[in-house]
Amino acid sequence: MSFPATHPSVDKKSGKTCPVTGESHEYQPPATGDARSVCPAINTMANHGYIRRDGKKISPYAIYRGLKACYGLSTPLAIVLTTGGWLLIKRLGRINLFELGLHNGVEHDASVVHADCPSGQKDAPVAIEPKLVDEFASEIVKTASASVGRELAEAEVVVTGHDIVRTRIRREKLSKPLDAMHAEIARGEMAIILGVWQKTVEGKEGVPLPWMRTWLGTERLPEGWSPDHVQTLRDVVKRSGAMRAEMKKIKDGEGETGKSQ
Ligand code: HEM
Repeated sequence: MSFPATHPSVDKKSGKTCPVTGESHEYQPPATGDARSVCPAINTMANHGYIRRDGKKISPYAIYRGLKACYGLSTPLAIVLTTGGWLLIKRLGRINLFELGLHNGVEHDASVVHADCPSGQKDAPVAIEPKLVDEFASEIVKTASASVGRELAEAEVVVTGHDIVRTRIRREKLSKPLDAMHAEIARGEMAIILGVWQKTVEGKEGVPLPWMRTWLGTERLPEGWSPDHVQTLRDVVKRSGAMRAEMKKIKDGEGETGKSQ
């Protein structure tokens, strides 16, 4: 079938099915013109067809359903995240994914793998910074290696809540201070994925570092993974609370050291 020259381009990637293989949850990176967000979890859902692959005209209900199907989130957790997200960006109805990046909506400075929003700009950059992904992984490997007294490979390392605490402190030192709500959001984002993926690797509990690197760096699910439990809001609150307490303890300790010098 041919269209007149004035016909808008036909987006073959709007559906949930992979345009290359025809399968529904195959990974397919975004194509030119597709919309993506500042959130690795949501972009991963688009890349795997849990929401429209073009990232456009996305309803809150589509995100809610996607979060449950893709990550196994409980109904209350999926509702809180979705309604909270839409309220903070002050939108109703369908959005293009880049709209989630409204600065100081959900979006905040001191992200793990994204640059801060340039001053005067309304939306934060969506681009993943490969250097920040490498830094995230190498700092965690360094700490894990020091704790066992030998050089570990990334494949041997798991990411724990303590690693996220150190990461958050490292990143927050480089930006303007976050307000309490955005600091809480920043911990919560990571608490969710720790809960979704946590497993025991050689006696140590955490998320395999290669899974985190792939997800943060290429917005792709671990090969062959599917949810094996329901991830609850209560678990996320508990993890975030533990991280908040540990961050406070470390920062208070740093303050004391500063005073005594
Ligand atoms: C399974 C559920 C989710 C997980 C695991 C998750 C995880 C994450 C992580 C780890 C980041 C930080 C990226 C970075 O620091 O570079 C992030 C950022 C973000 N997420 Fe999500 N997210 C989830 C759901 C959502 C939902 C439902 C929304 C909104 C409707 C949302 C909106 C955002 C936004 C706006 C950011 C940018 C925050 C920043 O400035 O770093 N996320 N998310």
